[in-house]
Amino acid sequence: MSSDLVGELPKAELHVHIEGTLEPDLMLALGERNGVPLPYASVEEALEAYEFTDLQSFLEVYYEGARVLQREEDFHDLTQAYLERARRDNVVHAEIFFDPQAHTERGVKFEVVLEGILSALDAADAELGMTSRLILCFLRHLSPEQAMATLEQALPHRDAIVGVGLDSSELGNPPSRFARVFDRAREEGFLTVAHAGEEGPPEYIWEALNELHVRRIDHGVRCLEDDRLVERLRRDRVPLTVCPLSNVKLRVFDRIESHSIARLLDAGLCVTVNSDDPAYFGGYINDNYRAVRDAHEIDRAGLVQLARNSFVGSFLDDAAKSRHLAELDRLASGTS
Ligand code: ADE
Ligand code: ZN
Repeated sequence: MSSDLVGELPKAELHVHIEGTLEPDLMLALGERNGVPLPYASVEEALEAYEFTDLQSFLEVYYEGARVLQREEDFHDLTQAYLERARRDNVVHAEIFFDPQAHTERGVKFEVVLEGILSALDAADAELGMTSRLILCFLRHLSPEQAMATLEQALPHRDAIVGVGLDSSELGNPPSRFARVFDRAREEGFLTVAHAGEEGPPEYIWEALNELHVRRIDHGVRCLEDDRLVERLRRDRVPLTVCPLSNVKLRVFDRIESHSIARLLDAGLCVTVNSDDPAYFGGYINDNYRAVRDAHEIDRAGLVQLARNSFVGSFLDDAAKSRHLAELDRLASGTS
């Protein structure tokens, strides 16, 4: 086996929140640049504060950090830093979430957020040979009416945004609350995804499938509590965007060894590995691959399968998927 197959495998990242890639050094620099006070005086202090007990305890820190993002160039710098870092992990395609409501609620214009992100995505395509798609997430702790207003803001930018998702505080905010917003989004041509079964019960995954008509489930790790649900996900080849280090950091699993990823794979599900909020969870995508490889003895074929799933589950067109899969096959058979 190659000494660093994980590093060599081209891969797609399908679950990363751009606001969750805000490294402490950039956060501190932007706080300074924009005159936004932060509770941390140094990178070390920030890292020490990143101890979470659950999703909610993380989200409070995440939204606080996002306050330093104010101008178009801030969103550009943030996105550029993520893309360069991900490219070093051999990410050749990234499908990136953004949370416009975390910014418009503070008076930052939707277009400022979007244009800053898009200019960095365009540059990465030209300079790094890296493709991308953008997914707008609605914050589920806010109302469906606020989500609908956010969707209206996105409509003039329909061509720049491939789909909509649902994130933030899961418990008590079931997908069905947002069924009408997602109906409208699909009518307007957006693809749909949703965080479900991270902390929430299998019922939330059923709702995401049946009421939001999602193409992928973000996380979905609690599906194993319901055999019928596993069968549905397997039969319909619904990709799960699993984020192993996130799940340990947010105490969905107490350690990486008890993560359910091997059982999800054994159940025949289309599992992908992703970083979620890498600046807060201690690792980018390759750290996630290596953590599950080591803890669950995932062999060469298993790692290649995970990388394959990332392209199969992506929103790339069939020709691009085929190109990436052929490249993976060449690499896996040692003929590259
Ligand atoms: N927003 C950013 N990261 C998230 C996560 N892991 N779950 C829900 N919402 C999020
Ligand atoms: Zn997420």
